[in-house]
Amino acid sequence: MKDMPRSVEWRDNTLVLLDQRKLPQREEVVLCDTIEQVFDGIRALTVRGAPAIGIAAAYGLLVGSHNKDAADIRADFNERCDYLISARPTAVNLAWAVNRMRDCERRCHKESSLFADLLQEAQSIHEEDRVACNAIADVGLPLVEAHPNLLTHCNAGSLAVSELGTALAPIYRAHQKGVKVHVFVDETRPLLQGARLTAYELHRNDVDCTLISDNMAAHIMSEGKVDMVIVGADRVAANGDAANKIGTMNLAILCQYFSIPFYVAVPLSTVDIETTSGDDIEIEERDASEVKEYAGHPIAPVGVAARSPAFDVTPHKLITGIITDAGLLKPPYTESIAKVMKG
Ligand code: MRU
Repeated sequence: MKDMPRSVEWRDNTLVLLDQRKLPQREEVVLCDTIEQVFDGIRALTVRGAPAIGIAAAYGLLVGSHNKDAADIRADFNERCDYLISARPTAVNLAWAVNRMRDCERRCHKESSLFADLLQEAQSIHEEDRVACNAIADVGLPLVEAHPNLLTHCNAGSLAVSELGTALAPIYRAHQKGVKVHVFVDETRPLLQGARLTAYELHRNDVDCTLISDNMAAHIMSEGKVDMVIVGADRVAANGDAANKIGTMNLAILCQYFSIPFYVAVPLSTVDIETTSGDDIEIEERDASEVKEYAGHPIAPVGVAARSPAFDVTPHKLITGIITDAGLLKPPYTESIAKVMKG
């Protein structure tokens, strides 16, 4: 892969976020020195993508703490954790990473090393994600070799994680190995993560891709141009139902109609066995202005009603397989997920 800008970095005791709202026009970063800036960065999608917001929150709990003594760090640590978890409800990686930091704070009894221990835990979360993405690349590679004409939705690439991506990881691995892949990229209304981020990543890495608007997918499939759909997820429930960017379920339904395999790629940190089914996943409802405007410009009549649910839940029955860092999971997912989560 070409040198990609990192979505999240910890530099000189500051959280550095690549401002994904500005891509692809500008590569700018936002420096976060306060917990409020971290919250806003997650909420406003400066950093986005399930694993990346978990990593950002883990480091984010530490901003402004490097000069504090342990008692001060501990004083409001729980409140800081709860505050960051409340930034976005759907991606389980956010609560998962924050709760790992919470456990670390409770486990650490050596006051002199509390900050260092917490920083090490955040770095482990970051590094484990890098390892998981590489494992997903290897697990998904044979599928991409067998189905090199792909379609993806939203951005589950390197910008959404530590490195490579989830859905894009096997595609990058296949490309590196000389497989001739082609990727249709759904633009992903309303915030255009596909057009702005996935097309940017793939194009920058010389992966052959074609941008389409979301409503073109059925037509492209009917032309026989898609062998497989691969997407990421924000939360996979214990029964395999998968929440991902709004519009993902449309694709899964189309895949069933056209007999195209539909795969979800996730690290195990996205699998939530506490959530029994998709019915229990909270779907983030964002401001309707995201639908009524683009980049601040009105595109709908003033006063018209609109909604902006950020995610939908693809029922497990429509999912051919779940590509994870621990292997390819097949139905029945209640069994395969329980087995892999037990380790
Ligand atoms: O609202 P976003 O941009 O954070 O939504 C991101 C997605 O839906 C991704 O597909 C998902 O988080 C997987 S990222 C590896």
